[in-house]
Amino acid sequence: MRGMAVTSPVQLDRQRIKELTEREAARLNERTVASQRMFERARKVLAGGVASSYQLREPWPIYLSHGEGQCVWDVDGNRMFDFHNGFGSMTQGHAHPAISRAVSERAPRGTHFAAPTEDGVWVAEELARRFRLPKWRYTNSGSESTMDAIRIARAYTGRDTVMKIFGSYHGHHDTVMVSIGVEYERIGDRENLESLPYGAGIPDEIAALTVAVPFNDAGAMERRIERLDAEGRKPACLIMEAALMNLGVVLPEPGYLEEVREITRRHGIVLVFDEVKTGLTISAGGATEYFGVMPDMVTMAKTLGGGLPSGAIGATEEVMSVVEDGSVYQVGTYNGNPLTMAAARASLSEVLTPQAYEHLHALNDRIVKGCQAVVERYNLPGYAVGIGAKGCVMFAPERIVDYETFKAHQDADLADLGWLYNMNRGVFMTPGREEEWTLSVVHTDEAVDAYVSVFDELARDLTT
Ligand SMILES: Cc1ncc(COP(=O)(O)O)c(C=O)c1O
Repeated sequence: MRGMAVTSPVQLDRQRIKELTEREAARLNERTVASQRMFERARKVLAGGVASSYQLREPWPIYLSHGEGQCVWDVDGNRMFDFHNGFGSMTQGHAHPAISRAVSERAPRGTHFAAPTEDGVWVAEELARRFRLPKWRYTNSGSESTMDAIRIARAYTGRDTVMKIFGSYHGHHDTVMVSIGVEYERIGDRENLESLPYGAGIPDEIAALTVAVPFNDAGAMERRIERLDAEGRKPACLIMEAALMNLGVVLPEPGYLEEVREITRRHGIVLVFDEVKTGLTISAGGATEYFGVMPDMVTMAKTLGGGLPSGAIGATEEVMSVVEDGSVYQVGTYNGNPLTMAAARASLSEVLTPQAYEHLHALNDRIVKGCQAVVERYNLPGYAVGIGAKGCVMFAPERIVDYETFKAHQDADLADLGWLYNMNRGVFMTPGREEEWTLSVVHTDEAVDAYVSVFDELARDLTT
């Protein structure tokens, strides 16, 4: 569901945005002095005071103490409705009784064997049913899933080049840390987008093996495939999110995914849908079910483990044959960990039920409509967009369809201010400008209405 950008939006006063940002940042600092103290302690031993660079924040990160249902509490005791949900992992809500029970029943019976268990078989059966792909393997994170999926695709096709969508995030291994958050001016020519390492430590030779193409442009993709083929560098796979979840939310244009499927099939390129964010959040069978387009592989993580580190790869019999015949080592000490599998089973059987998805769709409808009404009431440059449990307000005067339009139109200052407004008014959100909300099955109308009302307050303060 996507609202329309208003046709002649108000001109926002940049000075006003700056003043409000200063006011709200000061207010957040005052409310989070225990986080500040924790940061002083943490920075002595944790690099930057955090466990992952995605948790960094100036002047200090917000440290959490606990979560329950739709809420989290920070170490200052601030209670917030959680729309961050662990970067889109906690679609079940926090401390869901079914998952807590599964974990507490499993723990005293042994938490790790590095041998398969029945729960792991059950989870694979359920994933095969939901995603209509017959063969599965486990990993422990989204990055591991995309890393192994790419290796499988390379082995299956005997090729090295990997194609991805420019601006898309698929985890932190070298092959996919390419052409993500780069400056607009460095993107290069649309027909020949640059292969740019994302951060230091990635060899140029590795980055050059990954070729990015624009989202929502099947023609540009096919032309690039043909040129790569002529150079003897045909891609092994195309790895992509069917709906982009790391540039806000960007939906595929009608017919785009079908064309991508047809082109990759015609060229013998393995189509990998990275469902780390979309799988189990936008529908029971992820993007594969939602859009009705069948990839050759899917990669999953996040919501799969119900809060425990998890990941999975699903594939056709043909593609997974390179694992089954022993030519690819798809391995890992913790793959299929019993505790994770117990949590995943409880989640898939008791929590992420058909009724849960109905609830998520209804809630998302309510929040998207509510946010879109605010955009229209105040004539803001932007629009609300949502799908399943995910969505956001895109602060952009024009519709964003790919990385180029995102970089050209997204109002980053406004996105930052929106985050501060949320944090100061009981709405916990991801700090990144590229992120979106994730609803959980235990979210209520009250939480969603609180989100909309904070947005209304922001819009009012900006325009009056
Ligand atoms: C689409 C997508 N793929 C892969 C990953 C990597 O997952 P992880 O952080 O579990 O390694 C992410 C993480 O945000 C993601 O959004």
